[in-house]
Amino acid sequence: MNDTIKPLVAGNWKMNGLTADLDEFRAMCQRMTPALAKKADCMICGPATLLSRLKGVAGEGPITVGGQDCHAARNGAHTGDISAPMLADAGASAVIVGHSERRADHGETSQDVRNKAMAAWSSGLTAIICVGETEAERKAGQAIPVVSDQLIQSVPDGAQAENTVIAYEPVWAIGTGLTPTTDDVAEMHAAARKVLIDRIGEEGNKVRLLYGGSVKPANAAALMAVEDVNGALVGGASLKASDFMAIVETYN
Ligand code: PGA
Repeated sequence: MNDTIKPLVAGNWKMNGLTADLDEFRAMCQRMTPALAKKADCMICGPATLLSRLKGVAGEGPITVGGQDCHAARNGAHTGDISAPMLADAGASAVIVGHSERRADHGETSQDVRNKAMAAWSSGLTAIICVGETEAERKAGQAIPVVSDQLIQSVPDGAQAENTVIAYEPVWAIGTGLTPTTDDVAEMHAAARKVLIDRIGEEGNKVRLLYGGSVKPANAAALMAVEDVNGALVGGASLKASDFMAIVETYN
């Protein structure tokens, strides 16, 4: 366990968030005290349409803003896509890449994810690289090999703690209310840590490994206490300031 890693709690708003929801974000910013900000980093990955307004609310305060996906190219004829420079321009400091919903709904491969992570870096964004097994893969006893392979293929050479965060999100735990046991999370995070060290050397000891999938105020403390869990990626529970901040406050 590396107690020197500062945890990160990142919210993933997915395809949610209209102007009225800026009030929830304002409430989060108000509740993020300087004392809490010393203990944990906090971020909301909002829809692209709200990013610059989220950043306007956040100002230079401790809650940062991220995107949810980027194209691998800097610009060009890609109708409807959003590039990393655009996210940075809108005020993002990070972007989620390879979320299982993108891998499943848009056929993104780990090679695509790797290219997107490199695009994120070129714009000064931290890449939050998601990996996770399906229910069938877990039942077949393949969870660790599947996630290890995703990590090997998705994490580019040159990944460092300052430009890369890994989020382990079992697909079957996302939005279902189901979570793995803390033993299963510990086993997976230990395996992921080892893969990262094999892949990028000593720096692999410093990269944050988040857990994601049905994190809520009621289970956050237990999940965040697991060895090698350095924070959370939170979907549904990040939409309400009271739930999300209760999760961040487990680090208080
Ligand atoms: P959830 O989503 O917290 O709603 O399960 C997590 C995620 O997909 O990042």
